[in-house]
Amino acid sequence: MSSDLTRIIGWQVMVLPYTMGTDELSFYGSSLSAFQIIIDEIIKTAEASGYVEHTKTRIKSLDSVKAKLSKKGLVFSRENAFDNLFDLAGVRLICKYADEIEKLFLCFHSNPDFEIVRTKDYITNPKPNGYRSFHTVVRKEVGTPTGKQSVCAEIQIRTISMDSWASLEHQLKYKKHIKDEAMIVSELKKCADEMYSSEISLMTLRDLINES
Ligand code: GTP
Ligand code: MG
Repeated sequence: MSSDLTRIIGWQVMVLPYTMGTDELSFYGSSLSAFQIIIDEIIKTAEASGYVEHTKTRIKSLDSVKAKLSKKGLVFSRENAFDNLFDLAGVRLICKYADEIEKLFLCFHSNPDFEIVRTKDYITNPKPNGYRSFHTVVRKEVGTPTGKQSVCAEIQIRTISMDSWASLEHQLKYKKHIKDEAMIVSELKKCADEMYSSEISLMTLRDLINES
């Protein structure tokens, strides 16, 4: 598939214009190419590091844009979205080992082409529910057919096991009337901690294998 044709929505690689709704297409307009360029540059930089197992990308759906603006007490408009939401373009970088997360982030931190706008370290400080991931918003000036544009994208860096935990936990948010929800939430937290503990053992095993 040509990378020019590869376009993204909903954390899955899809092809535009066939899969992105017409509402999204008209909302994002010419900014889509700027988002695609920054997403491509993020993936290129990450893949060059050698730490990436796989990547996922998405452009925020219109429903999510509306929900997030409303959560922030802002009316839905293109201007409000572009001025206040830094995750309209999103990239997940999935690596094998937990100690590769910081190394991956440093690839962006040390690259003068990327400005680090903010970071949230849920690895050092996991969320109370057990969520672990490193988030950063980066800004980059990109050349588009209509001129230079400065755009932001949110990068989430996590391991395979953190990603699979987050996918399962995410389903909870959309499922109503779950039987024994409190027990499931508490067991999920326990799983997150046990999975992280196994990640530490796996890193030790990797080092032992590499040294022998
Ligand atoms: P929101 O995007 O509205 O959550 O606000 P934010 O950008 O200030 O929050 P944050 O950077 O903490 O999280 C943004 C994204 O991280 C979310 O859209 C999810 O993709 C992911 N995320 C954050 N917390 C959780 C969590 O507890 N569980 C799961 N599954 N994903 C999370
Ligand atoms: Mg966000």
